[in-house]
Amino acid sequence: MSYSVIPETPSVADYMRLRLAGGLTPFAEEAAQKGLGGAYYGVTLIHGDKAVGMGRIIGDGGCFFQIVDIVVEPAHQGKGLGKKIMGALMDHLKEHAPKSAYVSLMADVPADKLYTQFGFKPTAPRSIGMAQVLR
Ligand SMILES: CC(C)(COP(=O)(O)OP(=O)(O)OC[C@H]1O[C@@H](n2cnc3c(N)ncnc32)[C@H](O)[C@@H]1OP(=O)(O)O)[C@@H](O)C(=O)NCCC(=O)NCCS
Repeated sequence: MSYSVIPETPSVADYMRLRLAGGLTPFAEEAAQKGLGGAYYGVTLIHGDKAVGMGRIIGDGGCFFQIVDIVVEPAHQGKGLGKKIMGALMDHLKEHAPKSAYVSLMADVPADKLYTQFGFKPTAPRSIGMAQVLR
């Protein structure tokens, strides 16, 4: 059975299932609902009739973009599908975003190995990523 990357954000149910499967921090359903509606662009990796991976870009559409939610279900990893998802997101940015766009992401090691293949470089020590979770 082949895989296809479609230019659609996943459903809330698939989003929550894929984040869990990928070991990413889960979000409340209301948060996911709101967040998915606000994405700049998103793709879903389909195998048969099932969503088995995803990737999204959030941002202001002009200056700043962030790559988030890159996941391939464990059973389908190691087959070049993460690259396929990243390739689709980067192609979209190259086609639609201004040349001066600042594209960033927070890489969970060892996924940084995937992102370096698409031109991403660590920003430290000049700048360091900082984050917090609002409670
Ligand atoms: C990261 C992830 C999406 C990669 O998906 P994948 O389909 O297995 O990736 P690919 O087969 O396309 O491999 C892409 C590259 O990533 C690197 N890579 C991916 N997983 C890796 C791992 N576990 N260890 C080391 N390198 C890895 C490799 O360098 C590989 O390139 P290569 O084959 O040319 O060496 C997948 O492992 C995943 O869903 N992980 C859990 C969720 C996660 O951590 N997401 C990233 C959040 S920042």
